[in-house]
Amino acid sequence: MKSRLSLEGGVPLKGTVRSSGAKNAALPILAGCILTHGDSVIHNVPDLMDIKTMIKMLEALGLKTDYRSNGTLRVSSTQKIRHIAPYELVTAMRASFFVAGPVLAKTGLAKIPLPGGCAIGSRPIDLHLKGFEALGATTEIQHGFVVMKAKKLVGTQIYLDFPSVGATENIMMAACLAEGKTVIENAALEPEITDLGEFLNSAGARISGLRTNKITIEGVSQINNTEYTVIPDRIEVGTLMIAAAITLGDIVVEGIRMEHQEPLIQKLRDCGAVVEIGDDTIRVSATERVRAVDIKTMPFPGFPTDMQAQFLALLTVANGTSVVTETIFENRFMHAQELIRMGAKIKIEQNHVTITGVEQLSGADVKITDLRAGAALILAGLAADGFTTVHGLHHLNRGYENLPAKIRSLGGRISG
Ligand code: UD1
Repeated sequence: MKSRLSLEGGVPLKGTVRSSGAKNAALPILAGCILTHGDSVIHNVPDLMDIKTMIKMLEALGLKTDYRSNGTLRVSSTQKIRHIAPYELVTAMRASFFVAGPVLAKTGLAKIPLPGGCAIGSRPIDLHLKGFEALGATTEIQHGFVVMKAKKLVGTQIYLDFPSVGATENIMMAACLAEGKTVIENAALEPEITDLGEFLNSAGARISGLRTNKITIEGVSQINNTEYTVIPDRIEVGTLMIAAAITLGDIVVEGIRMEHQEPLIQKLRDCGAVVEIGDDTIRVSATERVRAVDIKTMPFPGFPTDMQAQFLALLTVANGTSVVTETIFENRFMHAQELIRMGAKIKIEQNHVTITGVEQLSGADVKITDLRAGAALILAGLAADGFTTVHGLHHLNRGYENLPAKIRSLGGRISG
């Protein structure tokens, strides 16, 4: 697999492109398959590295999978599954820890390697474990594994100190097979959580309060099989929306959910880009350099942290000065250093950066430090003068399905 790609900036991207399935919805849904019984079919599963890692995890736990190139995954799960997750899969991807809740609920014992730190911060799992303990499990760290045990899980009231996406999902999955009713207060509201909940409900779970910060799960004795379609990837869609604005192009993205894009639509309009919304399409165009705006990342429905890097790339060429504040992760400005190498004027101060827009960036060799940083550097390269070489492509391949090919189909000059 290639480790870098080259691109030549200065071409306005134009045309129509279709969204892929949401990585961050598909990952917990695949983990949720551990709870099911029988053969399930999941559609719109994107073809990318993190999904492949989760499929390997399901196989390692004893489920049978069959993934087709059209994005359809067949998963077969039985009562008998293994309870130990392989080290190399959890360290390759933090989201592997999503299997903890389902494995614990199904077998009463889960041994999952403790996920390490990651490029965008320390990212602890204390809220996940607090939730499992509230449901009656014991948790301890032994030889690098988190060992979780419970004779049975019993429904209860759980208050999350922070609306963590992963903790909400993991606790929700564990509670599906608990005895009685679990209420998660201060739950996260991200659309991917709703998608996971609707997937589980389609298989016989009883989850209510989705789309609110109080989710109620009535435990059932068995989760059955189902057929389900994953939602579109709002972060991929958002990345393509910014590609239109930063290249002064005109892009239609098909297969979108408008309600998932709202914070971005608002900010792009504030910037002066034109955003037109159809039934399940969105069209973004810009004819002149955008205006500076301020961004502050927040849990949904606030501005998503997963769009911060890409929007920051856009602001490097905006007219005026912007401030971007990151409130979700403590170390998520590594892309700013690389953008500075391309001529961006950015002052980095703890959890915020001040950007003074320049008329044009200049192509350079840059290095991807994490998934969304990769998208930001590609966007910057598309708007820059001359050639950009983006190194560390494996980060991008973890979470985008064919982004270079989609950009090429819009007229972008990009290899890879
Ligand atoms: C998910 C997304 C990720 C996104 C993030 C925030 C997936 C696979 N990944 O990650 O793309 O950037 O939501 O929207 O869906 N925290 C704790 N203790 C915990 C759990 C989290 O302190 O037990 C903290 C984290 O360190 C972070 C914040 O809470 O500062 C948000 O994390 P969380 O919402 O859990 O993100 P993830 O589920 O890891």
